[in-house]
Amino acid sequence: MRIDLLSIFPDFFTTPLNEGIVRRAILAGILDIGIHNIREHATGPHRTTDDRPYGGGEGMVMKAEPLAACLAAVPRVGERRRVILMSPRGLPFSQGRAQDYATNCDQLILLCGRYEGVDERFTARFVDEACSIGDYVLSGGELAALVVVDAVCRLLPGALGCADSAEKDSFSRSLLKHHQYTRPPLFAGMTVPGVLLSGDHAAVERHRFLESVRLTLERRPDLLAGLSLSQAERKLLHR
Ligand code: ADE
Repeated sequence: MRIDLLSIFPDFFTTPLNEGIVRRAILAGILDIGIHNIREHATGPHRTTDDRPYGGGEGMVMKAEPLAACLAAVPRVGERRRVILMSPRGLPFSQGRAQDYATNCDQLILLCGRYEGVDERFTARFVDEACSIGDYVLSGGELAALVVVDAVCRLLPGALGCADSAEKDSFSRSLLKHHQYTRPPLFAGMTVPGVLLSGDHAAVERHRFLESVRLTLERRPDLLAGLSLSQAERKLLHR
């Protein structure tokens, strides 16, 4: 998959994309990233990328022409390309949406909005969807775009060391992940649940599943509406 990031602050991306799983995926050729400075596509002596809003009001609006020129300069990769505007006005990002992007797209183009917004005529013509990472306002879409890159990257085949660890992530099936423990067996006077040391894999699986359900009930009961259980899991719950 290729992900292109369009921003007036391209330096935002250098360190985060050069660490951990994303870096590994890039080096392994699983993920290709393009970073594009919108300002380089602006014209005029000051290469202005924003202007005052028609109708008056606070702040500045990102101009349509530099955005359109920047987008036109992005190389096309594959057939299945989506242009996504990062914006607090977008549809909520979720594990399901990350899975959709990872499965159904060859290329994602993430446009990082700034200021009070983007000229709607650009959005209407070129943007397929808007995406929000939560109900809060960031100074711009750069951090939000990094969230999308990270969440999508871990779902690309081969990106994670252990083949099934994405499957066991929180949200992968509307359940939060169970608690985790590692050595030492005693820390700050606290032990590890005995079943995890028992070597009984079926018992460990049962314990973890029940803990996931309990945690989800306690912290995110809203998620349970989307949960479908196998017959075996239903039996476990009713034991
Ligand atoms: N830009 C500013 N706030 C944002 C948010 N919550 N999600 C995505 N992009 C944004």
